[in-house]
Amino acid sequence: MKVLLIGQGYVGLTISAFAAKHHQVVGFDLNPTIVAQLNKGISHIEGVASEDIKQAIYAGNYKATTDAGEIAGSNIVVIAVPTPLDADRKPDLTYIDSACKLIAKNLTGPALIINESTSFPGTIRNYIKPAIEKYSNQKFEHLYAISPERVDPGRQDFNQKNTPRLYAGLTPEATSRTREFYSTFCDNLVEVSSPEVAEAAKLFENTFRQVNIALVNELAQISHALGIDVRETLDAAGTKPYGFMKFSPSAGVGGHCIPVDPSYLADVAENAGVEATFIKRANEVNLDMPKYIAGRIAKDNGRSLKGKKVLVVGVAYKPNVADTRETPAELLIDALTDLGAVVTWNDPVVGTWHGSESSPLAGADIAVVVTKHDAVDSKDILKSAPYVFDTTGKVKGAVQL
Ligand SMILES: NC(=O)c1ccc[n+]([C@@H]2O[C@H](COP(=O)([O-])OP(=O)(O)OC[C@H]3O[C@@H](n4cnc5c(N)ncnc54)[C@H](O)[C@@H]3O)[C@@H](O)[C@H]2O)c1
Repeated sequence: MKVLLIGQGYVGLTISAFAAKHHQVVGFDLNPTIVAQLNKGISHIEGVASEDIKQAIYAGNYKATTDAGEIAGSNIVVIAVPTPLDADRKPDLTYIDSACKLIAKNLTGPALIINESTSFPGTIRNYIKPAIEKYSNQKFEHLYAISPERVDPGRQDFNQKNTPRLYAGLTPEATSRTREFYSTFCDNLVEVSSPEVAEAAKLFENTFRQVNIALVNELAQISHALGIDVRETLDAAGTKPYGFMKFSPSAGVGGHCIPVDPSYLADVAENAGVEATFIKRANEVNLDMPKYIAGRIAKDNGRSLKGKKVLVVGVAYKPNVADTRETPAELLIDALTDLGAVVTWNDPVVGTWHGSESSPLAGADIAVVVTKHDAVDSKDILKSAPYVFDTTGKVKGAVQL
């Protein structure tokens, strides 16, 4: 089958690499730099080996393209484009809309169209299908389905093969064709009764994480005020073999999923007349963590950061990936700067960020660890400044959150 992936980022390229073992895969992306690199067999995504891309190209099973004409003749089209928030933190479906236009204008026959991008319940039924029908000149009877993506970039133990995958089509035929496709590379498929259930489940998975992270971040603040070690408390609670799941405090949430997806659920709830109070409060607690941390650092350092050289260590949103989307490091840098600090950052995995290069891990008055990559030695972090504040719990000997 000819499978066309719209978007070759974290999700699209991961699926491409697995699907190319069984199908003819074309990875379509609007970014010519990514496409040129992929066609040389160079992966830009952690967890997708360049070797796998090279092998798929060599076997004639994979190519990347910016040419929308390549969409023609596809049996299956998988949409894997960004679904961010707009300036008012509301769902922004402009990338989905642009993907629908490309599909509608270029498909030359009926196809199975699957959405893997995260969005609110009703997206495939009430948004994607009508948009493709609106933009099409020819009236093909496409099949529509949803299979939300659960990839966790950089993770070794779970991948496309062993992570259970939810799916549902708008019609029984769409459902069975979707099962047939994913069963070629995924061992555990979970059919649900409607696309809306799959879409809602995906949003809830990430909302569950966001709310629980906010809860432990609140506990970190309570524990500090009471003079109790929050991590020891969490370890202690974690000895209960049932009814408890451990989350860890941090500088906040980052990436394209946890800070974003819950707002999709809150928005759809609001439109249905329900106020998503937990989600809103969790957002506030997590977004306020950088200010809380900057305040703690100032308090420990004579109540003023004016003119102090502060080094933020680790600006990626999580360890061992280069992804800085929605990173809490950004809000922390703002909060420290507002208190008069002269802020630089160090992150060898990210390298370049906002047009500036990673600074040396040395010579600061204060260092604050947001993300601890395996490649960065704790001893070097402790040597980088006389005062080190650690939000990760991994740098022993530093002041802990
Ligand atoms: N990153 C994750 O860990 C993850 C996990 C699960 C679900 N998701 C969801 O998957 C979707 C994609 O996320 P991602 O992390 O892969 O994003 P990404 O930014 O890594 O990749 C998206 C790619 O789509 C391309 N693109 C944008 N509009 C396009 C268009 N109209 N046609 C072709 N290409 C286009 C971009 O150039 C980019 O390369 C989002 O809805 C996200 O919420 C992401």
